[in-house]
Amino acid sequence: MQKIEVRTGVPYAALIEDRLLRSAGILSRSVLRGGRIMIVSDERVAPLYLAETKQAFEAAEFRVFTFTFPEGEGAKRLSTVEQLLNAADSAGLTRSDAFVALGGGVVCDLTGLAAALYLRGVDYIQIPTTLLAMADASVGGKTAVNLVGGKNLCGAFHQPRLVLCDPRVLETLSPAVYAEGMAEVIKHGALGGGSVLDLMQSGAPMADLIAENIRIKSDIVSRDEHEQNLRQLLNLGHTFGHAVEKLSGFSVYHGEGVSVGMLIAAWASVQAGRCGEEVFRELKDLLQENHLPVATVYSAREIASAAMNDKKRRGDRITVVLPVGRGACELVPVPAAELEALITPCDGVVTGLDGGLKG
Ligand code: GLY
Repeated sequence: MQKIEVRTGVPYAALIEDRLLRSAGILSRSVLRGGRIMIVSDERVAPLYLAETKQAFEAAEFRVFTFTFPEGEGAKRLSTVEQLLNAADSAGLTRSDAFVALGGGVVCDLTGLAAALYLRGVDYIQIPTTLLAMADASVGGKTAVNLVGGKNLCGAFHQPRLVLCDPRVLETLSPAVYAEGMAEVIKHGALGGGSVLDLMQSGAPMADLIAENIRIKSDIVSRDEHEQNLRQLLNLGHTFGHAVEKLSGFSVYHGEGVSVGMLIAAWASVQAGRCGEEVFRELKDLLQENHLPVATVYSAREIASAAMNDKKRRGDRITVVLPVGRGACELVPVPAAELEALITPCDGVVTGLDGGLKG
């Protein structure tokens, strides 16, 4: 079993091993104080893994309750959180009890937020079932739901007590959902010293790849838990990717947006003389090999304008993450008025391309 320590205010471990699901109850015993848990899942994952997970917790003598909600981004909202909180209350969960998230990014983010709110904060455990959730959403403590005006606009920092990754469950993912996770994996490759890129190119086992992703993320999160500075590096590809998602009316998936967004950042960086073209080429090849889009129909002007309207920007500057070498990125504050000029060289290479990604 691989174990990564996440050294946040209250530290926790991420454990990775095939068939870990069946030991979830025993492993959770050492970090949970109470006897009741609420397992939260969605309608896609529940038929596949809820019974096995419930059994694992019951075998460790937990009293188990379950809450399942519809699959997809549409359910990631406050009304679902409210239903979950009422279910926890009806089940009699107290301050020493806990939530367990069993699912992809939506389930992990929503359960974390509910755990932050219930009785002003209870413990929760992440059992991610998608590659995206294993490599990214389950670790770091950022929890959120969407508001009408945008994604993840309502949330809290609340770290889990334990993260359990069972790579075997990835076997049931659709190719599109798998590819989405690969976008975040390649992102960690672009900023974590290149070790993830090496593992991918050598065909390393999935458990090793997941462990290295979590190690990179946990190293950054441990040094900047509340995203004051360094943690913004994890937003590589997100400023431009989110703009593409928005322009498409969110028919472009998050991972697809991040894929194109990373290449916009990389090519802009090449053109600004901050890194060599081989950095862009390697990322492009890996994204393409993993069935992710490497171009979009939207122009640099459209993307810059959508990015400037991002509510999460601070003042009149946008901090963009630019690759500066293999496995290395830097935070570069750019005046909002200069954002378009920074990415204009991407037109004809990544952006503004007929036949590129539009959703
Ligand atoms: N929960 C995802 C993160 O903290 O980045």
